Amino acid sequence: MICVRRARPDDAAGIAAVHVAAWRSAYAGILDDSYLAQLSEARLTRFYQRAILDRQAGHAVFVATAGGADQPGDQPGPQPAIVGFASGGRARRHGLADGEVETLYVLDDYRERGVGRRLMRAMAAHLRAIGCQSVLVWVLAENPSRYFYRRLGGRLAMSEGIRVAGQVVEQTAYVWAPIDILLSATAPVKEG
Ligand SMILES: CC(C)(COP(=O)(O)OP(=O)(O)OC[C@H]1O[C@@H](n2cnc3c(N)ncnc32)[C@H](O)[C@@H]1OP(=O)(O)O)[C@@H](O)C(=O)NCCC(=O)NCCS
Repeated sequence: MICVRRARPDDAAGIAAVHVAAWRSAYAGILDDSYLAQLSEARLTRFYQRAILDRQAGHAVFVATAGGADQPGDQPGPQPAIVGFASGGRARRHGLADGEVETLYVLDDYRERGVGRRLMRAMAAHLRAIGCQSVLVWVLAENPSRYFYRRLGGRLAMSEGIRVAGQVVEQTAYVWAPIDILLSATAPVKEG
């Protein structure tokens, strides 16, 4: 079973592992191979330990876990594995939207099962709870994930060149204004 919840500091290593695997898969052919090869799980673990504890500017990290026991009241069992994560908070730049989803990554084997949508919902609910009326995400223009954001109702708002690992790449911003567009697009499907 997939569970989405707020990240804890001891999730940092699992998040770092997903980060490295997802970057090497998603950005192959977009970013330099040498840059992707030198991504360090140890360094990213320290980065995410700080990120999970950092609640400034409404910052939050959510994880998706699979297998094992991860809910209060679950029988003790094997440790669930982190298969995806998302992070964000108040927008880092003014003008486009109040809130921002800064990262969203799902392991290849868990894609197309609704994990990304659930993580986006967790972020949208969190951002609205801290008062954000709109939300944005930046995605590399060549990244096929842009179709995912479009599928969830995101509107292409801006493109610009940025420097990543020494190379200039195009990034585009998708915006949901009002944020309810994203909440509706990610609402759980009612059964029965
Ligand atoms: C983008 C990403 C998070 C989507 O996660 P996911 O769990 O596969 O997405 P979901 O299963 O929740 O998909 C939700 C909907 O979007 C669609 N979708 C997902 N990825 C898509 C894609 N690349 N192109 C078109 N549609 C896509 C799904 O088919 C689904 O449609 P539905 O409404 O008909 O069910 C995931 O593909 C990923 O981690 N990609 C690599 C990392 C990355 O690029 N992250 C974004 C950085 S900005």
